[in-house]
Amino acid sequence: MAGSNNVILIGFMGAGKTTIGREVARLQKSIVLDTDSIIETNCGMRVSEIFERFGEAHFREMEVSVCEFIRKNVRNAVISAGGGTVESYDLRDIGEVFYLKAPLEVIFERIDGENRPLFRGKDEVAALYEKRIKLYSKQANHTLNALDSVPQIANRIYDYMRGF
Ligand code: S3P
Repeated sequence: MAGSNNVILIGFMGAGKTTIGREVARLQKSIVLDTDSIIETNCGMRVSEIFERFGEAHFREMEVSVCEFIRKNVRNAVISAGGGTVESYDLRDIGEVFYLKAPLEVIFERIDGENRPLFRGKDEVAALYEKRIKLYSKQANHTLNALDSVPQIANRIYDYMRGF
């Protein structure tokens, strides 16, 4: 939904969505919303705790509610979407979608040792990655190389959006 002027960042855990989101928002003088942070604030719990206590399906429902709120109410913002949002929502409905694409080996390096509910083992992450890249590619209006520098990526997004 290009008319909303929202920038939507999608991609696997560790692709750099949060960092890039902050930089784009700084360039645009807009704000960045992070779907994970919104859910954590609303629930008063960390994402990992929500997964443990209520399960993944419940978390996905919360993601859909947040996306629907954004679709109805948010304009001119940068949205950093949790890596699995694409499973239950088409993010093209809330803005211009930029996919930060990072190779699996780099993802492993970046997220290894972190407490992430879906990081159970390398084989499982590899299978999830394969499944997800199809969804990311389908929803992406633009695909960006997540290995480029933060300023490079952020400026590319900023320049594109200025054309709107
Ligand atoms: C998830 C990614 C996480 C978070 C949750 C589930 C996923 O967000 O929403 O742990 O399913 O890929 P980030 O991509 O911001 O790490």
